Amino acid sequence: MYSAKVMEHFSQPRNTGKINHADGEGVVGNIKCGDQLTIYIQVEDERLVDVRYLVFGCAAAIATSSMTTELVKGKTVEEALQVSEQDVIDALDGLPPLKYHCSNMAVSALRLAIRDYQEKKGKTALQKIGRSARQSVHALKDRIVTHMMYRLHGTENEGGDDG
Ligand code: FES
Repeated sequence: MYSAKVMEHFSQPRNTGKINHADGEGVVGNIKCGDQLTIYIQVEDERLVDVRYLVFGCAAAIATSSMTTELVKGKTVEEALQVSEQDVIDALDGLPPLKYHCSNMAVSALRLAIRDYQEKKGKTALQKIGRSARQSVHALKDRIVTHMMYRLHGTENEGGDDG
């Protein structure tokens, strides 16, 4: 019922385990069967340099998780988002139709992990912008105060020229 490739990935799953301090993490549970999968990604220069997973599930869930990580490892984030459930099924030389939903779990968890990464990256970028904006406001305030002091008392040095 399962292809030789499914059996191979089931008996020798690739990229298993957890990435500590992962850049992104996606968790998916399958309400039909109660299985659960967590995918972890590590990203450098927008490329998935490591992809790992922990799965509690059937043979197809293990094989599709393993194959999904193999398909996207080394790809850019954008390329990884293009990988579909059908790509995973094709790479495994097919799955019994009853097991198609198992492949959804791996691809969905991967997309959630990428979304998690993108959200974290967005927050970091916003924090940097916020810090730089606060510094600019402080610098501007200092200049305004210096200018006002000069206008009021004519004694403050406006712009550092003692001349
Ligand atoms: S039967 Fe649960 S994921 Fe396959």
